[in-house]
Amino acid sequence: MIEYNSRQITDEEAHLALDLAVEQVRRSLPLYTDHCQNHSSVNGIYPACDNVQWTCGFWPGEIWLAWEHVCGADRSDVNNQRRTGADKKKDSDECIAGQAECGAGSLSACASEYAEEFRAAAMKLSESFEYRIENKIEVDHHDMGFLYTPSCVAAWKLTGDEKARNAAILAADQLMTRFQEKGEFFQAWGKLGEPGTYRYIIDCLMNLPLLYWASETTGDPRYQEAARRHITTCMRYSFRADGSTYHTFFMNQDGTPSHGETCQGYKDDSFWARGQAWGVYGSVLSYRYDPKPEYLEIFHRALDFYLSRLPEDLVPYWDMVFSDGSGEPRDSSSAAIVACGLLEARRYLPQEEAQKCEALARQMLYSLTENYTVWGGRCLSEMDGKAGGDASDERFDKKPGGKSDEKLAGMFDDEDSVKTVKTQNKDMIPGAGLLLHGTYSKKSPYNTCTEEGVDEYTSWGDYFYMEALTRLTRDWKSYW
Ligand code: GLY
Repeated sequence: MIEYNSRQITDEEAHLALDLAVEQVRRSLPLYTDHCQNHSSVNGIYPACDNVQWTCGFWPGEIWLAWEHVCGADRSDVNNQRRTGADKKKDSDECIAGQAECGAGSLSACASEYAEEFRAAAMKLSESFEYRIENKIEVDHHDMGFLYTPSCVAAWKLTGDEKARNAAILAADQLMTRFQEKGEFFQAWGKLGEPGTYRYIIDCLMNLPLLYWASETTGDPRYQEAARRHITTCMRYSFRADGSTYHTFFMNQDGTPSHGETCQGYKDDSFWARGQAWGVYGSVLSYRYDPKPEYLEIFHRALDFYLSRLPEDLVPYWDMVFSDGSGEPRDSSSAAIVACGLLEARRYLPQEEAQKCEALARQMLYSLTENYTVWGGRCLSEMDGKAGGDASDERFDKKPGGKSDEKLAGMFDDEDSVKTVKTQNKDMIPGAGLLLHGTYSKKSPYNTCTEEGVDEYTSWGDYFYMEALTRLTRDWKSYW
């Protein structure tokens, strides 16, 4: 595994970054409670949209992570170091009550001042996901996992809401309708079985935890069996010998493999960064549910390829065929996704490798926080020299996620920061996101996508950034 010397985010910095992310989510709640947040920002602001996009699950996922943070962050060792015994006693009485396994309302007794705002907004959105699946609105594609895992599965796991559980099971049923026996894969897009659409895509690995969850919650093994068959196909054909990946892969109608093609990458034989990131995180999630050693080998190969193409700040260009000097935009969301994969992988690897994975994730998250958020350059550099936690630092006396507006404004109180923030229109204002410089789809002469969201916030970039920080601040029970 390639190793880097760059700076790692500390526990305290991760906690502070999550505080700030949670505050940004709170500021945007009024815009995206009755509506969803669109897939990517336009000039730094997310348009609101109806619940019709494949990406609508990420925003409720952010709200649930925010809720967990304000409710439960005090349970982590990191934060416990900074709190008084009396605080901890109060927290444990108020927040940890009912801390049971999934589906039993594990955090429902939380007393944080913001908890109810987050919970109510996430549940309102959950209702719109119930409506969407019951009425089959824009669900003729494979992205049921991206949609229903961070929204309804999270709602069920955290609050035990039965309606959310039922909606997620319906979404799993919907995904099952897209399984193709000939070729053994979930058809990604288009009319089922039609020539020209008979393909799956690497991203689909992230849709499959929904099926494992559906089998677990219903006791019906059909869902997980289909997931396993798809994974077998994907592992066989989507990963090239050097560990790079095809974005999409066509099968012949008789079930034999045809060929790889890109949709959102630069060209068919290039290395679309996010596809590679889905491959890294997806392969380790596949291992979690079905611990075949070859899945971990694929994780390592995909990761090594990804690492071999990173620029110095560890945030890839949107296609990894590009490097410094190309003038091409980055895709920060890929770095956040890979960081989640690395932190998940720690659980399955020997200690030394696990530590290397964690170090890499911390380096990526430091770079993202420092260079790819509007607040990073200020808040982390102010903390230099305080690594290891300074219990007297007044910023840590605040409730997680509970910083006052004045405190946050204070982080931008010198002239340069104010100017930069204002000219980019990317302050912590309602409608802004978390991770700058994401790329959704960039048109090239050789690909088939429509250009959207180039060098903007992306809703999944924001979600996976929060997930990765959450994984560093507490012992997180995955939604996936
Ligand atoms: N799943 C589509 C994308 O990552 O853009």
